[in-house]
Amino acid sequence: MTKRDQPILATLTKAPYGGDWNPEQWDSDVVREDIKLFREAGIDLVTINVFGWTKDQPEEGRYDFTWIDELIALVKAEGINVCLATGTAAHPAWMAKKYPDILRTDFGGRKRKWGDRHNSCPSSPAYHKFAPALAGALAERYRNEKAVVLWHVSNEYTGMCWCDRCEAAFRVWLKKRYGTLDALNAAWNSRFWSQYITDWDEIVVPNQLSVQWSERATANQPLTLDYSRFFTDAQIGIYELEADEIHRLIPDAIVTTNFMETYRPYDYRRWAPKLDVVSWDSYPFAGVAPDRTAFNHSMMRGLKDGQSFLLMEQTPSQTNWQPVNSLKRPGVMRLQSWQALAHGADSILFFQMRRARGACEKFHGAVIEHSGRSDTRVFSEVSALGAELARVGTSFLGGRTNAEVAVWFDWECWWGVENSMGPNGSLNYTEVVERHYAAFHRLGVPCDVVGPGSDLSGVKILWAPLLYLLSEETARAIELFVASGGLLLTGCMSGVAEPSDLVFRGGAPGPLKEALGLWVEETDTLAAGKTNRVLPASGKDWPKFVRTCTMLYDVVRLEGAEALAVYGDEFYAGTPVLTRHAHGSGEAWYFASLPDDAMLDDLAARHCSLRGVRPLVPSLPAGIEVARRIKGGKEYYFILNFNERPTSVKLGDTRLQSILGEKDATGSLELPVHGVYVGLRLQL
Ligand code: GLA
Ligand code: ZN
Repeated sequence: MTKRDQPILATLTKAPYGGDWNPEQWDSDVVREDIKLFREAGIDLVTINVFGWTKDQPEEGRYDFTWIDELIALVKAEGINVCLATGTAAHPAWMAKKYPDILRTDFGGRKRKWGDRHNSCPSSPAYHKFAPALAGALAERYRNEKAVVLWHVSNEYTGMCWCDRCEAAFRVWLKKRYGTLDALNAAWNSRFWSQYITDWDEIVVPNQLSVQWSERATANQPLTLDYSRFFTDAQIGIYELEADEIHRLIPDAIVTTNFMETYRPYDYRRWAPKLDVVSWDSYPFAGVAPDRTAFNHSMMRGLKDGQSFLLMEQTPSQTNWQPVNSLKRPGVMRLQSWQALAHGADSILFFQMRRARGACEKFHGAVIEHSGRSDTRVFSEVSALGAELARVGTSFLGGRTNAEVAVWFDWECWWGVENSMGPNGSLNYTEVVERHYAAFHRLGVPCDVVGPGSDLSGVKILWAPLLYLLSEETARAIELFVASGGLLLTGCMSGVAEPSDLVFRGGAPGPLKEALGLWVEETDTLAAGKTNRVLPASGKDWPKFVRTCTMLYDVVRLEGAEALAVYGDEFYAGTPVLTRHAHGSGEAWYFASLPDDAMLDDLAARHCSLRGVRPLVPSLPAGIEVARRIKGGKEYYFILNFNERPTSVKLGDTRLQSILGEKDATGSLELPVHGVYVGLRLQL
């Protein structure tokens, strides 16, 4: 086993199991009762102090950690470990009263009052002083505490601030990025609408008082784009203030903060290198397609080039903040937990351990319900999974996916393409990328989610739709990927603009023109619901069926590329919609519109056969997911049934030995409703 294969929490003998526990809301008899129940359910890790700031620091200049001392002593005696949060996600009321600079200014330009969580301004001197001081005081106190195996900074960083301090910090950030006002004005194309800047302090934050018409639409796209970058850096900055304090005192501490799927305001790819481990909170809506959740897991895994991540939160039963909060049906919590493990999670943790009695999360699901009983459906399902995790030990933990195909997901492209007015305001970046990912998912081919800076060395097929903004480095990396043998698929709205959102001279696909062997003459769009047809180009017999494409329609001119398929309709009927071009020892494909799912399935199958990428099983029935983790040369297969009916899967020449105590699987495997099979691949 190489070091890369190590589980994230290498000192533990199984996947950590437990979650957010808020004993500060309860009397000590309930706390003791909780711990007894934790033992019954196989819980071995609790996250504490997530919202403990007012208890930790009841007033300025005084900390009180006795309650944490007591909790740690109690759980430790039962063999339960601790993920210690720094408690800084919600500042105390006294602090806001005394230091109002800690409060944010909202999108409408209104100064907030105290009250909500995630309400601290990242440019606030008070926050800069008090948050790392608390993290440091905790680290000082628990630096030798072996039960603390993980550090959790703040909680789900959320939202933005548009206050005067952030504005001043933004100007400093811009000065660093552009150096001179001339460079800034040029990058921002600021003669447009007389947006020319003559002094740094004329620069404003982009909210409703200035350039924003709505959260998405802005009169100054480069400014809005830079504010997103600045704000990501500001949040990373306050994360680092705390993480650095912890590391200063405990050099080998494992420190993280919990991310939230594809969260638009912050570029997680920029942030992830600062985390010792990526962790995230998964709350799929009832009925959401499993490939969406798989995409999110794969994206989190991809933030650190395939290193496993921690599932920091999920609900055992229901949320309370979705429009409708259905219960997870029997077996679904287990199924979703195994889905996380299948895609690279090394832990299963819940929010919340005991359902709060009061305030706005009292209707949020928990391991222990208001009844306080252990003979409930939820508690039994949690206990059963606890036993299962104990049984599998560390087997696949730390195991890697080693996917040969990848989709490109980049916050900068997301911001850039969606901030842009036109051609079509309904364009949804994440939806398009996820649909591309889903085609590989349906085929049973493990797929990574990569982005700027990712290691592409093991990738044979790279799909990069809406590759809108291209830095020089990214353009070079992608061109090199193709030249050295890779198969690239990109398409409309790609290679459009430089990082500051200035369109490339010569038009799209900008620096990828040569690799793709074409240029884009114009781009059409049609009213919602209208589509175009995709037909084989003359002399071609593929795609076999007429496919459709939607939303955006580039009219392209070939300069070396070969047309594989053409549009069926509109004045550009018969012109190329899908092209292919050999470049170096690889090839670059271009889809000039947005392919429908059937077209994506055709492309996935075709590309995999061209590059010799084999699905994990010969054919995957709808609603079945298959994934693999490889560790120390051993391959673990995860086969999951998301259908409401038993479903059987053909395994081809793969023979599996169950690690969950079931029979070996060979030939075909019958999975019950929401069934899970996890097996080690046997050499034949
Ligand atoms: C987030 C938070 C938790 C809790 C849950 C509820 O994930 O981190 O504190 O509010 O949502 O789903
Ligand atoms: Zn601010």
